[in-house]
Amino acid sequence: MMTEQYQWVSEAWEKVNEKIDRTSKRIGANFPHASENGQYVLAEPYWWTAGFWPGLLWLLYRDRKNEELKQIAEECEAKLDAVQHDYYRLDHDMGFMWTLTSVAHYKLLGDENSKRRALLAANLLMGRFNVNGSYIRAWNPWTEGEDNSGVAIIDCMMNLPILYWASEETGDPRFKGVAVKHADMVLNQFVRSDGAVHHIVRFDPESGERIEALGGQGYAPDSAWSRGNAWAIYGLALSYHYTGYVKYLESAKRVAHFFIAHLPEDFVPVWDFLLPADVASPRDSSAGAIAACGLLLLADQVSAAEAPVYQRTGEKILQSLYKNYGDWEGSEEGLVLQGTSHFPEQKFMNNPLIYGDYYFVEGLARLKGYKELFW
Ligand code: GLY
Repeated sequence: MMTEQYQWVSEAWEKVNEKIDRTSKRIGANFPHASENGQYVLAEPYWWTAGFWPGLLWLLYRDRKNEELKQIAEECEAKLDAVQHDYYRLDHDMGFMWTLTSVAHYKLLGDENSKRRALLAANLLMGRFNVNGSYIRAWNPWTEGEDNSGVAIIDCMMNLPILYWASEETGDPRFKGVAVKHADMVLNQFVRSDGAVHHIVRFDPESGERIEALGGQGYAPDSAWSRGNAWAIYGLALSYHYTGYVKYLESAKRVAHFFIAHLPEDFVPVWDFLLPADVASPRDSSAGAIAACGLLLLADQVSAAEAPVYQRTGEKILQSLYKNYGDWEGSEEGLVLQGTSHFPEQKFMNNPLIYGDYYFVEGLARLKGYKELFW
């Protein structure tokens, strides 16, 4: 399945498997988020990251059929049932959470209970659509009295695949219809002409009029948060995958060109591409891993003449993450160092992040030849 040129992928895959065999014994059926002082902090299953650990285990299970990893992934999925019934704490990240648990499980093993859970998540996600502004509402209030009803964020592009999947599974076009409306809104309101994207756009939830762009996890409203750009590349490529609408492909390419043009020499992005000179610019390895997966998908979607730039950059990013950012010998629990979770709030800086680890392993799996998507 794999050519000589990918010797490093075999090595990396072996190291990932060895390490996860070890770390899964401590982490078990819990929900790691960011690693601090060498160990993953285990978060509540309500947090948006709850699907990445089981998703990573499914990626390894697909290759090795390791029963222990499967059991942990199934236990994590079952723990999420309580979350599905806690209406107030559900936000748009139901896509991330149930795609990598239930959709993955269903696609790999045909589990009917997983299909039911994923369809329920898709229904709940669809219910967050605001018809006035054609956007999926991102969050509920973070603090009492806060009004988030007009907020949409770029990350939601990765929540759309569960809607496309639900339409394919049920034959009911409503889910896809909502996903397309949201993706069209993103083309109009988030993606800028140079290929940079906003993190947050706020609308008037009654009139649907755009009010403003907000900086969110980026430096400023008009800067370029690298993880947001990565969500856009992969999310738009996935929207093209499910719909065949060339407008999504064209936009994914535009954002990808901006991303590639702003990569430093070692191919791993800093946390925001448009920073003033006096602001610190640590790497965000997670943005690199996410973008790499998007670029590798794009490479398979464009013509043979266009493909090499996306394929090569995706490979270079993953190879650099493996060689320059991977922790393979030390006692660190995470796989990929130097993630930046939230620079403006100075949260989880210079740490392995579970989503960085997940997308790194997804990218490796793709280079090994696994092209079927959990998304
Ligand atoms: N989806 C939240 C983040 O990327 O940090």
